[in-house]
Amino acid sequence: MSLKLVDPQIARAIDAEMERQRDNLVMIASENYTSKAVIEAQASIMTNKYAEGYPGKRYYGGCENVDTVENLAIGRVKRLFKAEFANVQPHSGSQANMAVYFSFLKPGETILGMDLAHGGHLTHGSSASFSGRLYRAVFYGVDPQTHRIDFDQIKSLARSYRPKLIIAGASSYPRVIDFEAFRKIADDVDAYLMADMAHIAGLIAAGLHPSPIPLADFVTSTTHKTLRGPRGGFILAKARYAKQIDSQIFPGIQGGPMMHTIAAKAVAFQEAMSPEFADYQRQVVTNAKALGEELVAQGLELVTGGSDNHIVLLNLSRTDLTGADAEDALGKAGIVANKNSVPFDKRGPKVTSGIRLGTPALTTRGLKDTEVKAVAQWIAKILERPYDMNLLQDIQSMVHSLCSQFPIHNL
Ligand SMILES: Cc1ncc(COP(=O)(O)O)c(C=O)c1O
Repeated sequence: MSLKLVDPQIARAIDAEMERQRDNLVMIASENYTSKAVIEAQASIMTNKYAEGYPGKRYYGGCENVDTVENLAIGRVKRLFKAEFANVQPHSGSQANMAVYFSFLKPGETILGMDLAHGGHLTHGSSASFSGRLYRAVFYGVDPQTHRIDFDQIKSLARSYRPKLIIAGASSYPRVIDFEAFRKIADDVDAYLMADMAHIAGLIAAGLHPSPIPLADFVTSTTHKTLRGPRGGFILAKARYAKQIDSQIFPGIQGGPMMHTIAAKAVAFQEAMSPEFADYQRQVVTNAKALGEELVAQGLELVTGGSDNHIVLLNLSRTDLTGADAEDALGKAGIVANKNSVPFDKRGPKVTSGIRLGTPALTTRGLKDTEVKAVAQWIAKILERPYDMNLLQDIQSMVHSLCSQFPIHNL
């Protein structure tokens, strides 16, 4: 029986979500639209199978087909990123990070990660997450003038606190991350280096951002951001760490793997090896540059003045408008983005002085720099007159017509 008949409430919510994704400009930097093939694999009967363990070493019978799937996923992601070892079972990026910490750190040991308020992620030591509760977290940030990662500060913190693990990676940092500089500091203090490439994995796969794989001991990632796969995580590492990481994912912190998701990850890894994927990533970066340049031309301020990747971080701290109010106004006009702290933000995390914008989802729809510049002009107008309902409605109708010009291929 169809979902509509079995559960009309859920079916209606899914239909409404489809319309929302179709009729709005998704500019949340961590979101994307997967291919039809990824959704088909994700929605498959692989969800019915329990497969605790790893290919060839399962705790259940009947695993021959899921073994094929997981072996393909592992082989593909290793090839894609030129990694020695991969674990594709983490249910999410947070689980990938947890597994690395649990594998190599004892509770109470020190980690050095990027401050959440400067662009880091919750799992890099925030007290709101397990990472800040179980470990002694020390934070580095960005330079107060340039808003770029402050490597002098990292070096001096590393020497003072002697962390066991240094974490390189961010959730809202619009510039290239210099993994080599991180490696040097980690070597200087004899720390492990973990790169969390969740946001930039797609760019790295396409060779548009320096790869952390040859440099870091462990690399964690999500599959659903620039990489354009299903929601999930994975870990890459040097071969010598394979056993510890595998046994920490299962049975350490997870039970049975989600084989439908692993099937979808395998499809996404395959797609990411295609020339079209590299073209797509190039356009993501071109679009982010165009977006940033046009916002600046319209008189807006950006953290670091621009972007090297898929993220543009608007800095509203010199205006009366908060990130929360800006998010609300943009949303009313059909532009979906999120409020975000900016470095040295005087407003709290529920209000903020920033808006994080990203180009991965718009680029998947087919928008090029010309359209993205038009979107930047709409954003500037909205931020100038955020409470002008006529303006918001006018822009919303232009957003709808742009969305119908660039339909999402899988909806
Ligand atoms: C850098 C980074 N690491 C980890 C994660 C966590 O991923 P998940 O939401 O899948 O747990 C995110 C998610 O936003 C992220 O940006």
